[in-house]
Amino acid sequence: MLDNQIVSVKEILELEASNQKIEVKGWIRNKRGSKKTSFLSINDGSTIKTLQVIAGDQTINEATLKDITTGCCVQINGILKKSIGANQRSELFAEKIKILGLADPNEYPLQPKKHSLEFLREKAHLRFRTNTFSAVFRIRHCISFAIHKYFNDRGFYYINTPIITSADAEGAGELFQVTNLKNINSSDANYENDFFGKKTNLTVSGQLEAELAALGLGKVYTFGPTFRAENSNTSRHLAEFWMIEPEVAFYDLKKNAALAEDFLKYCISYCLENCKDDLLFLEQRLASEESSLKKELRSELSLIEKLVHVSKSNFENLTYTEAISILKNSKPNKKKRFKYLISEFGNELQSEHERFLVEKVFKKPVIITDYPKKIKAFYMRLNDDNKTVRAMDILFPGIGEIIGGSQREERLDVLNKNIHDFNIDKEELWWFLETRKFGTCEHSGFGLGLERLVMFITGMKNIRDVIPFPRTPKNVSF
Ligand code: 4AD
Ligand code: MG
Repeated sequence: MLDNQIVSVKEILELEASNQKIEVKGWIRNKRGSKKTSFLSINDGSTIKTLQVIAGDQTINEATLKDITTGCCVQINGILKKSIGANQRSELFAEKIKILGLADPNEYPLQPKKHSLEFLREKAHLRFRTNTFSAVFRIRHCISFAIHKYFNDRGFYYINTPIITSADAEGAGELFQVTNLKNINSSDANYENDFFGKKTNLTVSGQLEAELAALGLGKVYTFGPTFRAENSNTSRHLAEFWMIEPEVAFYDLKKNAALAEDFLKYCISYCLENCKDDLLFLEQRLASEESSLKKELRSELSLIEKLVHVSKSNFENLTYTEAISILKNSKPNKKKRFKYLISEFGNELQSEHERFLVEKVFKKPVIITDYPKKIKAFYMRLNDDNKTVRAMDILFPGIGEIIGGSQREERLDVLNKNIHDFNIDKEELWWFLETRKFGTCEHSGFGLGLERLVMFITGMKNIRDVIPFPRTPKNVSF
């Protein structure tokens, strides 16, 4: 059946070699050998592994062999035989090689040697052809698939919320304006003449719309692009990132936190099961990168050990007030103090505090709940103390905040007061308020930043390396 069919390198490597005829297409990673026999490694992106092709000068003409260089694209027909070498189970003996696309070795940037991640970021159009990035993007796919599977298997409906909106769900003002007005630099720009007849922006979160859907469909989730004009040029922030926002009717904060924990562990376990080869590759890559670091800076666990550890741990639950009291009484190490001192209730937790709690105190993911209301968004449910809200942040080792969520304020009078206190235009949110006016109920949800989870699972340290074409301040190439 396989005679002369194009199969992927992954499928070929899984076959029991028995002299079957195979056709394969892919890119040359490496060529070595003598004038008489060339050994070609070919990869087509289906797996981290390469197929070894043996091309002898008896069957393949010299000119073709000469033209084959790293990066060129080829079609190879040949016979698959059991390998006598230790490195591979089978190898392809070429009978015919057709060069589909040349890659001039004087110009092709991805020569078979180690390139820095920064260099490869500038070659984002070609970096899919490297081991590191093909592994990262296969895992990113696997995580996305696991996310849909998790929710679908549990009766959640996938909701597409708008990308263009007139709302600022988070109230943080980090908006990218959307307009087709020619002249908008004057403060008195008349948005009535703008495309939608009012001022619009790219969405910072689909939550408000997801809430509407949950209060009719019960259990929903969004999975879409999210835009924030945060001018923080850090290794964990993007201007365009992908967010997953489940929203569930009749859930309180406790159930919400349990769902988030179960969901994260599921995604990690799914990758451990389905991305073994890629994870092993990335684990080795990370170990070789860390070998040049001082001993105390190296990770205690390997990448896979870390993933297993987190997927099996019970996340620590504590309130913001408890977190503050731990932080007040600790120093990150003997010599150093925190850069930002925690002095009182109401301070934001900085990432040094979050990482200290996760990496030094608890050594596992931490869920912090009940934050002061003034540092969180208007839609979170007020606690009886009148000071804190039913918010939760989930903090991960090496990452910091991976999820932010809350139980929502379902009481119309309290929500109205919040909207007033936060200086939000009530008219803009009439539709949101009507869900509280008609048949309101307890409900909760959270947002996961996809790229933060991809960073955690792949061990990549810069968020620019886990999204194909990162958008960050002053960077919008490709
Ligand atoms: O904590 P955030 O701002 O929460 C929300 O947007 C809520 N509406 C979610 C909800 O309750 N439905 O963002 C949620 C997550 C963060 O925890 C983080 O993982 C990610 O989104 N995130 C970013 N990821 C990359 N780049 C950025 N600039 C990010 N900002 C937030
Ligand atoms: Mg947050």
